[in-house]
Amino acid sequence: METIGKQHTDHANRILVTGGTGTLGRLVVARLRDAGREVRVLSRHGREPADGLEYATADLGTGEGIEAAVEGAETIVHCAGSTKGDEEKAANLVRAALPAGARHLVHISVVGADRVPVESALDRAMFGYFASKLGAERVVTDSGLRWTTLRATQFHDLMLTTASGMARLPLIPVPSGFRFQPVDADEVAARLVELALGAPAGLVPDIAGPRVYDMADLVHAYLHARGKHRLMVPLRLPGKAARALRAGANLAPDRAVGRLSWEDFLAERLSASSPNGSGPSG
Ligand SMILES: NC(=O)c1ccc[n+]([C@@H]2O[C@H](COP(=O)([O-])OP(=O)(O)OC[C@H]3O[C@@H](n4cnc5c(N)ncnc54)[C@H](OP(=O)(O)O)[C@@H]3O)[C@@H](O)[C@H]2O)c1
Repeated sequence: METIGKQHTDHANRILVTGGTGTLGRLVVARLRDAGREVRVLSRHGREPADGLEYATADLGTGEGIEAAVEGAETIVHCAGSTKGDEEKAANLVRAALPAGARHLVHISVVGADRVPVESALDRAMFGYFASKLGAERVVTDSGLRWTTLRATQFHDLMLTTASGMARLPLIPVPSGFRFQPVDADEVAARLVELALGAPAGLVPDIAGPRVYDMADLVHAYLHARGKHRLMVPLRLPGKAARALRAGANLAPDRAVGRLSWEDFLAERLSASSPNGSGPSG
């Protein structure tokens, strides 16, 4: 696999952002650039350097290309993630970062990683994400690197994707008792950058959005903003993980430090995405 094609060992304070092409990572990269830092983005899809950004082609899942990507990076902000396998991605990253001399690994995790039990096959099928985030946290903690981990609640963008997907259905099944406390991804990015530019701090206080919503209310606000009407039916999900979510394991009401509300996010996003308010499809 192609790797970065230039010498970079002289740039000791360069910051590597894994997942710097994603929702959160892009915002982190922009803020680091605004802070005047040299940034390298790790992505599976290589690109030519542009706008002062350097790209490293690597796959954290297979391990390919990571050694070259971490070379010369004092700080690594690990924003790459997917619904599965984040423990392995983190393990491959730290395996390369430790001998390369990285001094600070900043990691984004999810609120509830330590509170959602993923025990049965059913739990794993629906909520395995939480177990893989907890696994990644443990990899970071035990890495031998100095680290900082921030847990965030769900981003508005994720809730928007979820709500717009649900709105395509004529009748919307909504997991009963589920609540969310969505947070603005750019507010999370700002906090991650603050942490990346500071000293390693271990597990720091969670970041969560300003309000807790019933899932039905989140979907309803989306439907309202889009001028749509749908029937919603409560669906009781089985398993221990679902029970933990009904008990609020994914919430951090005492850390409601986010400022942008779901309603304001929807108003901004739906008006920005289309002049006639059509917004995301669905
Ligand atoms: N979304 C949420 O609500 C939420 C809440 C709390 C925490 N988080 C955590 O925040 C992080 C970012 O989430 P996001 O919503 O911004 O994700 P996203 O938009 O889906 O972006 C995922 C990023 O991960 C990279 N990636 C995925 N698999 C990779 C692999 N095998 N090797 C290298 N890079 C890989 C992708 O890069 P390429 O495709 O360019 O390779 C992409 O930049 C994740 O760790 C997630 O668990 C998310």
